[in-house]
Amino acid sequence: MNTKQTIAVIGATGNMGSNIAKNLSRGNNRVLLFGNEKEKAEAVLNDIKNSNSSADVEALECPADASWEADIIILAVPYQAEREIAEKIKEVANQKIVISIANPLNENYDGLVTAPDTSAAEQLQKLLPNSKVVKAFNTTFAADFATPVIDGKQADAFVAGNDEEAVNTVTELVKTAGFNPIVAGDLKVSRTLENMQLLLIQLGIKYNYNWLAGWKILHN
Ligand SMILES: NC(=O)c1ccc[n+]([C@@H]2O[C@H](COP(=O)([O-])OP(=O)(O)OC[C@H]3O[C@@H](n4cnc5c(N)ncnc54)[C@H](OP(=O)(O)O)[C@@H]3O)[C@@H](O)[C@H]2O)c1
Repeated sequence: MNTKQTIAVIGATGNMGSNIAKNLSRGNNRVLLFGNEKEKAEAVLNDIKNSNSSADVEALECPADASWEADIIILAVPYQAEREIAEKIKEVANQKIVISIANPLNENYDGLVTAPDTSAAEQLQKLLPNSKVVKAFNTTFAADFATPVIDGKQADAFVAGNDEEAVNTVTELVKTAGFNPIVAGDLKVSRTLENMQLLLIQLGIKYNYNWLAGWKILHN
């Protein structure tokens, strides 16, 4: 069995944070939850414990404390909140893996607020220059986590990053969460991955996929 990883989920009370925390707590992981509202974080903790009594999960009241204890930090917050959180965790996130799941959507969901020559993940790497930022879980909807098998196929989940060891570690987390990981390339590939989710959101709205949708690469 792999060494136990401690994973801080910042924004653990949100749609993505709560689902990621729940699925990762099924693996050999200690999961630390941080949410702005203590009661909401405790509700997520109880939900996880109710579905898996042996889950090693705890709610913490400070994002820096959670990140200090963690090996891996997941920012499950809106893109616009990342700068503020990066300031709070910068010192304690040194050399650690920080997972960027954000899609920097505009308010109409018909474009990205980031310039074409960058991505939310690359912006986060600039804010946390001493951390190993890895893109993951941005092309999977929160609703997919309950059953990552859609239309009979296990949904793919793309991973991108510059540090090979960090990418390998995150790839294992993606597996634990129930998705089929595909290493897509270096952090720059996040530009494509973030645009892929923009497209999927637009198609979901147009064809009413009900937020249960995902990507699957067909190949020989
Ligand atoms: N929803 C999806 O299917 C999906 C799929 C792929 C990627 N994503 C990405 O995942 C991220 C989270 O999306 P979501 O749908 O889970 O959003 P959400 O349900 O609104 O949850 C956002 C979480 O972030 C917290 N938060 C907001 N501002 C914060 C701040 N300044 N400091 C600390 N915590 C803050 C919220 O806490 P409070 O509620 O207490 O404010 C909440 O826990 C986004 O970047 C999104 O682009 C979402």
